[in-house]
Amino acid sequence: MDLEEDIRSLQLDSAEDINGVVNPEDEKPDVDKMDEGLLSGSDPKQEVQAQSVEAEPKAKVKEILSVQDEEDEQMKKRHLNVVFIGHVDAGKSTTGGQILFLSGQVDDRTIQKYEKEAKDKSRESWYMAYIMDTNEEERVKGKTVEVGRAHFETDTTRFTILDAPGHKSYVPNMISGASQADIGVLVISARKGEFETGYERGGQTREHVQLAKTLGVTKLLVVVNKMDDPTVNWSKERYDEIESKMIPFLKQSGYNVKKDVSFLPISGLMGLNIKTRLDKSLCSWWDGPCLFESLDSIEVPMGDPKSPFRMPIIDKFKDMGTVVMGKVESGTIRDGDSLLIMPNKDHVKVVAIYIDENRVTLAGPGENLRVRLSGVEEEDILSGFVLSSAANPISTVTEFVAQLQILELLDNAIFTAGYKAVLHVHSVVEECEIVELLQQIDPKTRKPIKKKVLFVKNGAIVLCRVQVNNVICVEKFSDFPQLGRFTLRTEGKTVAVGKITAL
Ligand code: GTP
Ligand code: MG
Repeated sequence: MDLEEDIRSLQLDSAEDINGVVNPEDEKPDVDKMDEGLLSGSDPKQEVQAQSVEAEPKAKVKEILSVQDEEDEQMKKRHLNVVFIGHVDAGKSTTGGQILFLSGQVDDRTIQKYEKEAKDKSRESWYMAYIMDTNEEERVKGKTVEVGRAHFETDTTRFTILDAPGHKSYVPNMISGASQADIGVLVISARKGEFETGYERGGQTREHVQLAKTLGVTKLLVVVNKMDDPTVNWSKERYDEIESKMIPFLKQSGYNVKKDVSFLPISGLMGLNIKTRLDKSLCSWWDGPCLFESLDSIEVPMGDPKSPFRMPIIDKFKDMGTVVMGKVESGTIRDGDSLLIMPNKDHVKVVAIYIDENRVTLAGPGENLRVRLSGVEEEDILSGFVLSSAANPISTVTEFVAQLQILELLDNAIFTAGYKAVLHVHSVVEECEIVELLQQIDPKTRKPIKKKVLFVKNGAIVLCRVQVNNVICVEKFSDFPQLGRFTLRTEGKTVAVGKITAL
């Protein structure tokens, strides 16, 4: 009980510092509507999903808060999408919720309401996660299902948080979140036993890291969370143990740990080392930055604003015309532009562009947009379609050559011609078949192996021809990395990651 009180008083202090607190209650009707819309059978997204091939839970995105940003100046700040990943219960939603609270977007009254609701559901400590976990199923089970989306700003950057679910059943949703992200926050629980379960084979710490790397999350901030837990108590030994175990694994997964990864200890629940640095009296050994500082200092190369326009569509709806949602992967979009929706080659005109709630006249790589279009009916668009430059549209294929790395096949499965799986590439989800293995590549030397290859096992790297039933929009990895990297999944497991080498 004392602990709970401490937490509350800490939060009240920090809330008092903040001007212009926005009460999410004011926005609640929209949030509810959005969730209902996504869950109801009449939701267009559901119709799209009904046509996809997999029986797994489908990727969904829910909007949580979007704070009106009046000043044009603000739009000049850089924008980064940050996905929160990590094993189930690591504290992703709690940390995301705390960030929104500390950045002044959730007021005390709402927190108190969530505390009561959490208590009524016998989930006392879950109230911070309720800021991100907005639907009933998530709150009852204490598990994120859909990717939560929220916005906050630091001095230099506007961030969109994508709060991915950690549970293994919802990996397709995590993939959808990570494929929109520029950077990742990998949340790890330091609590006794929890780090270990997440890190084990089959734990989502591993799977998420490998997926994030393949999906183009080039920079990782590893936050060692729950440092306040009685089994940890801000122990340097525990923090060092986790860091030293994670480093070799992150290297193996393809991260350059010196350049692309940083570690820091936090308590998401208590809000410590998030907006302000740690107090020495609590943790004498940490001299490093807090989470906001670390996020601010991450440098990410952005897509080229001058290259041909590409925006994979993740969702669409009717609102005074047809509105599509997605992230700009390359090029620039302007009001009045004539573009194509691929693969159908529908000619469309850009009527309006929105970043969050703000209307803008142009937008470049990395921005999450809603774009109102004329010239196309909402029914004629599926998620996975790509809004493209008309002069230089995205490639459309039913077959491509790819370099695949086999991670872990299901028991007894062999990877050979005829192997079927579900392909996830940007916002596309399609059944695919491996039609030919072309060449195996030695994982150590990265050189081709001369011998003819008929089948391969776990860990192998192989060049193969992949076929899909429906036309999809993709690019060569070397031309547009984000539109040419993919994962293969089957029966709820990621079996391979790959990049497209020829179309
Ligand atoms: P999924 O969405 O299911 O993957 O979980 P998650 O990673 O979002 O975890 P969530 O935020 O729902 O938190 C899970 C549990 O861990 C809750 O009971 C939280 O109160 C608790 N928790 C999260 N962060 C901390 C922390 O910093 N300290 C302590 N002691 N508990 C925490
Ligand atoms: Mg969560």
